[in-house]
Order: sequence, then structure tokens, then C-alpha cells
Amino acid sequence: MKNLTPEDKNRIDELKNHLQERKNHLLGYPVTLNFDYSLLYKFLQYPVNNAGDPFYMDGSHHMNTHSIEREVIHFFANLLKAPENNYWGYVTNGSSEGNLYALYLAKRLYPGGVVYFSEESHYSIEKNIDILGLNYQKVKSQPHGEIDYKDFEEKILLHQDQPAIIIANIGTTFKEAKDDIKPIQDILGKCKVKKYYIHCDAAFCGSYAQFLTPKPHFDFSEGADSIIVSGHKFLGSPIPCGIIIVLKHNKERISNYVDVLDSLDDTITGSRNAITPLIIWYMIRTVGTEGIHHQLNECLNLAAYTRIKINHLGIKAWRNPNALTIIFPRVSKALQYKWQLAAHGAFSHLIIRPGITKDMIDSFITDLKNDVNYRK
Ligand SMILES: Cc1ncc(COP(=O)(O)O)c(C=O)c1O
Repeated sequence: MKNLTPEDKNRIDELKNHLQERKNHLLGYPVTLNFDYSLLYKFLQYPVNNAGDPFYMDGSHHMNTHSIEREVIHFFANLLKAPENNYWGYVTNGSSEGNLYALYLAKRLYPGGVVYFSEESHYSIEKNIDILGLNYQKVKSQPHGEIDYKDFEEKILLHQDQPAIIIANIGTTFKEAKDDIKPIQDILGKCKVKKYYIHCDAAFCGSYAQFLTPKPHFDFSEGADSIIVSGHKFLGSPIPCGIIIVLKHNKERISNYVDVLDSLDDTITGSRNAITPLIIWYMIRTVGTEGIHHQLNECLNLAAYTRIKINHLGIKAWRNPNALTIIFPRVSKALQYKWQLAAHGAFSHLIIRPGITKDMIDSFITDLKNDVNYRK
């Protein structure tokens, strides 16, 4: 193997410097900034692969981190109140894959089912529905982003005799609004829908929503059949990943033994990342529930501060109750690019996560004050 040329070395140095600078201006996307997984660098020397079922204990391929992956699943199953001895899951490459897995499982359990999701759902839902060829009803959202329960009921009544597959958002992508699975189940009961499946897309909020007051209704004890949480969002990971938890008795109905793998094929992809389970495990061991709770409180305080500061500029900014996302009228392209803000229609948003500092917010507020879109 030859060494990198000086030009190649320069190229990667420049890229690293660019990322370092951009990291200090990353306000619009929901990823945590302050993590250090350098103790895990040593694993980059092995061709590891988590193909197969992490809970299948035999198998002839041993270059995996399944034992660590199982601990990650146990942690999240416990956090999300999955029934003891009746949960299963794996580390996905993100919440889009987790949504696909849940819809795939629901399709196999309830062929002919209709998927209900709100117009504020993440774009992966509609794409995954298309991939799986499912029937669906898109439900209206309320202005603050939560599903419109009245419209949900009307849509359910159109297909009362078919199984219902419901996607609840525990933090919509743009407004961080949370759907409530209690009224959703009340409506299903009232409409006499016997067969249904509830998947909670908790990509951003799933890791901390249990610590909010009031606690959103979305966990297994409250009626969820599956939940996805992103690993690279609030928890923090340099490699995108997610944790999907489902009910074991459901998943067992779709597992297949594959000879060449000498394991069960019950994940979406064959080869799977073996480093991301280690990263999430490391976060659990070093930050843990207490740390997540603490980080949440700090973020909530900074979110309240940010909203007030923007309001003081005479700009109408708002956030949903207990949300870390602040929404305000759309800023100029220059400001959007400088601070990597996300925009949707007439609005921009920024999201407070671990690693966002008061200094960053103050610096952004100064820029916002001078932003051409807001000049009188
Ligand atoms: C609500 C929601 N679901 C799913 C996703 C997709 O997650 P990922 O990027 O991990 O695939 C996102 C991403 O922002 C999201 O906000």
C-alpha cells in the first residue's frame, strides 16, 4: 500500500477544517455536537459486520458486535417500557430504515391494512409506503403540527373494516409536535377497528421524551407496537444510526432462517454496521439516563432563552410546549447557509441539542438582527 501524496493529505486536512468550521454553525439540523468516541477508534482495524439477528446466539460468523448491540436494545426497550421478555430490535442505519422496518412488519401482520400518517410526517414514511405498495390515507395536521384527530377519525371511518397501521410522530421533523397515541386508540375503539398497529416515529425525541413533564403518550405501556429512535440525533453519533424496538411475538412471525448466514434474516439490510452499536453503547455507559435527563434540562433552558431573545428583536418566534425547536419567519439564503438552518415554506427553524452553546445562540441573534429579510 502506498502513502498518501502531499496533495491528498492537504485535501483531507482541508475537508476536516471545513467540517470543524461548519460544525460551529450547525443550528438547523437535529444532531448532537459534543461527543468523543476516540476510545473506540481501535475498532476501525477490523472488518466487522453485524449481519443477521443480534439475538440469534449461534451462527458461524463471529466478526460482529452483537453482544453489545443486544445491550443497546435492552437499554432502549427498558427506557421505552417494552414488555419484559417480549421485545426485540436492532441498530438500524437511521430512522428512515426503522420506519421501513415497522411498516414492513405491519404489512406482514396485517395484509391489506391502510396506513394513516399526518401531513407533517417525515418524508421517509410516504417513500416507504411506496416501496411496500401499501394503501394509505394522509391525515391533516393542526397548525402547530400535531395530527388532526377529527380528520383522523373521518379517514378511519372510510376504511373501518380494514386493519389500520398508524404512524404517530413523537416530534414532527419541522415543528417538533407530538402526536398522542391515547386519543388515537380512543378513536380506533370508537370506530370499532379491531386490528391495528401503532408505530411511533420518535426519531428526535424518543431518547428523552420519557423525562418530559407532562410525559407524552407514546411508549409500549401506552399502546405502541414499535418505536424508532435515531442514534445520531439527540444521543450523538458521527455515523447515522437508529434503534428500532418491536414486540418479539410480532417479529417472530416474519423471521426466516438463512443457511449462508447461519442466522435469522429479520433485518432490512443484510450487512449491517457493527460500529454504531458500539457508539450507542459507549454513550449509554458514559452519559446514561441521568446524563440524557441533565442534557435535556439544559437544552430546554437554552430553547426558552433563544425564543425570548428572538422575540426581543421584534420577530415572532414560537415553539411547541417542551420542544427544542424554535420556529420563526424564513430568513435570507445567506443566513440560512451561514447557520445551516432548515427552512420550510414561510418558516425557518433552529434546534437546540447538546453541544449548542449560549455563545453560538448570541452570535446567531446578532446576525439575525442584521438579516436583510427582517430589516424594516
Ligand atoms: C420524525 C423523523 N422521522 C424520521 C427521520 C429520518 O431519520 P434518519 O435521518 O435517521 O433516517 C427524521 C429525520 O429528521 C425525522 O425527523
